[in-house]
Amino acid sequence: MRDLARQMSREIIRTKTFARDAARKIVDVSEEAVAARGEFRIALSGGNTPRPVYSEIGKRVPWERSLITFSDERCVPPDHAESNYRMAQETLFRRAVIPESSVSRMQGEMDPQLAALDYENKLNTLAMTRGEPIYRHDLILLGLGDDGHTASLFPGTSALNEDTRHVVANFVEKVDDWRLTFTFPMINQARHICFLVNNSKDSDLIERVLNGDEHLPASRVKPVDGVVTWIIEENA
Ligand code: 6PG
Repeated sequence: MRDLARQMSREIIRTKTFARDAARKIVDVSEEAVAARGEFRIALSGGNTPRPVYSEIGKRVPWERSLITFSDERCVPPDHAESNYRMAQETLFRRAVIPESSVSRMQGEMDPQLAALDYENKLNTLAMTRGEPIYRHDLILLGLGDDGHTASLFPGTSALNEDTRHVVANFVEKVDDWRLTFTFPMINQARHICFLVNNSKDSDLIERVLNGDEHLPASRVKPVDGVVTWIIEENA
């Protein structure tokens, strides 16, 4: 059962079939992108929420016509339990048979500053080959942290104020570690942004973000020319 409330460039889908509806949205956007531009550029979100969604997608996306990036990454090696790349490998890459060339991994094992610069240069180069001022994703998946963070844009961290860089290393006191993350300029360039929010998330927090509470980083996701979809799991 779904109910869809469309509001300007934002749609809110509250659903009891979370993984199925989220996978459907990803497949729909991929088909639209490939039909319009011959490719699908998606950024994966990390954490645990996306696991059932990635498992659901499987082979339903034209991965050979896709470029997969990551909206953020922990500063750990790719085989580390905390790695977002490893989570994507376990739930998506292994099942969907995705070409190596379709995946652009943030190198969490590198020095954070160098890794961020390297990733940003990669995306800037790709953008230039397409005559774009900044790399434009067809879809960026995002999660919502309990403190209102998204990607690795945590409250009180320096990356929140970054208005020119596209990918930065961000020291996060809360986890006492560095993170690699897209900045708001990169995120807000996307054609479509989809927040994946399962029923473990506090409903008051969700409403505060939906009402634009600027103390919460997720509220600052406002695409320049795109659509934000919230897929919010309801209790069964
Ligand atoms: C990360 C994520 C982060 C995540 C939220 C929600 O690297 O952890 O990108 O932004 O989406 O923290 O995490 P859960 O899905 O595990 O609740």
